[in-house]
Amino acid sequence: MAGARHLSASQDEEFRAAARSVAEWVANYRERVEEMPVLARVSPGELSALLPRSAPERGGPIEDVLRDLDRLVLPGITHWNHPGFLAYFSSSSSAPGLLAEFVIAALGVNAMLWRTSPAATELELRMVDWLRRLVGLPDGFEGVILDTASTSSFTALLAAREATGLEVRERGLAGRPDLPSLTVYVSEQAHSSLEKAAIAAGLGQRGVRKIPTDDGYRMDVEALRRRISADVETGIRPIMVCATIGTTSTTSVDPVATIADVCEAMNVWLHVDAAYAGPAAMLPEARRHFVGWERADSIVINPHKWLATPMDCSTLLFRDRDAFRSSLALTPEYLSSDTPGVVNLMDYGLPLGRRFRALKLWFLFRQLGAEALREMLRRHLRLAGEFAGWIRADRRFELAAPVPFGTVCFRANAPGTEPKPGTKPPSTKPPGTDPAATNAWNRELLARLNRRGPVFLSHTVLDDRYTLRLSVGSVHTGERHVRKAYKLLCEEYDGLVREGWPALDR
Ligand SMILES: Cc1ncc(COP(=O)(O)O)c(C=O)c1O
Repeated sequence: MAGARHLSASQDEEFRAAARSVAEWVANYRERVEEMPVLARVSPGELSALLPRSAPERGGPIEDVLRDLDRLVLPGITHWNHPGFLAYFSSSSSAPGLLAEFVIAALGVNAMLWRTSPAATELELRMVDWLRRLVGLPDGFEGVILDTASTSSFTALLAAREATGLEVRERGLAGRPDLPSLTVYVSEQAHSSLEKAAIAAGLGQRGVRKIPTDDGYRMDVEALRRRISADVETGIRPIMVCATIGTTSTTSVDPVATIADVCEAMNVWLHVDAAYAGPAAMLPEARRHFVGWERADSIVINPHKWLATPMDCSTLLFRDRDAFRSSLALTPEYLSSDTPGVVNLMDYGLPLGRRFRALKLWFLFRQLGAEALREMLRRHLRLAGEFAGWIRADRRFELAAPVPFGTVCFRANAPGTEPKPGTKPPSTKPPGTDPAATNAWNRELLARLNRRGPVFLSHTVLDDRYTLRLSVGSVHTGERHVRKAYKLLCEEYDGLVREGWPALDR
């Protein structure tokens, strides 16, 4: 009956011992993660082949589980908490966030209604408000915590759709000849989650207007204005414009203030996707990137990206809570409660069940404090700036985009294509002379770099050119890890040259 005891054991020594074992495992993992390759080295199906086809009938001790965690699972882990994780946007677990996750599971709260845990509701509202103050957004913004930016932006789109007065909530979209086509406006560089949101909200992919960008990958506001006007003239109904502060590929910043002017003039909902870059607004010196976002109707910031909070934690801020309530609030009898004047968080999103994510922010702010978080952000900005400087000064490489935050887009100049001394290309969109062969060269360089183990970088494509991307955002990453990335990159570059890797005549 050992298994049955594990189900609920809370008081007995067995639980304490197991908790100590897990704590030991976690502490050891954090100590040794740097020795492991960041990117998992397994082949597809490797773990599946080792796992039993069915669940065991009888449970066993935690030691067995932890042994198999090491033996079976760890080899298939890409280590997001490795200091050499420099790919995508990092999602790293600070110690406070990690400890909070343990407590969250212990409490097992479902924060759907105020009364299903008053503290969870009130802490969530206050944590969003702490974040709001830290990033300098004015009073009047409030918000909730959802799982991901994808969910947050989708929720905002539903609120924006309802705010048009088209009564989609009640009457739906299908079979309504009275309805115009509905559209959402994003830049070509916006995250795909906006397009997915449009699919889910019934706008269809054709309802997504991808506005061109300028030579710094920022939305062309005149093109936006023209496109909205043209749509309105043909009877189409614009629902939302999404401006991004920190786009996914290059972290470019759309001109939010001028976009806000357009939205105001055209009476269109403005959503700001600051899922990645939002925490940087905690730094006075970075506030210039955020001018105008205070005029948004809704904003998403993901603490699980650049604020040392373990997955998942996305804050959705908004100015008109009724717009959100009227798009999704629905209370069946079994969920009705008779506490007047309280917020029931289930009313502000699609999921009924909600994790107690606010506890992660509370632990984070309480244990680290805002100053330490600002220091972390500054360190990341400095490290990205240093790396960009090395790339700029090295004829083997070139910058592929400006570097407003902690992410550097760059590419290697394959042999024979390096600029002559003194003619480094500008750090904005290149003239577009790069052939496919250079793309292959860069792809090979990145693959070799990532196979080395100590670092993991990802890529994007800008103007048809394969582009390498180094993003510093992990609480664990320091100077030596970024230096290492540069050193390995140079070694792999030189190795390819020595081999005469024949990309250019392929
Ligand atoms: C700018 C931006 N918005 C939204 C998202 C989606 O984030 P999530 O995984 O939280 O849905 C990303 C993911 O990287 C992003 O970079």
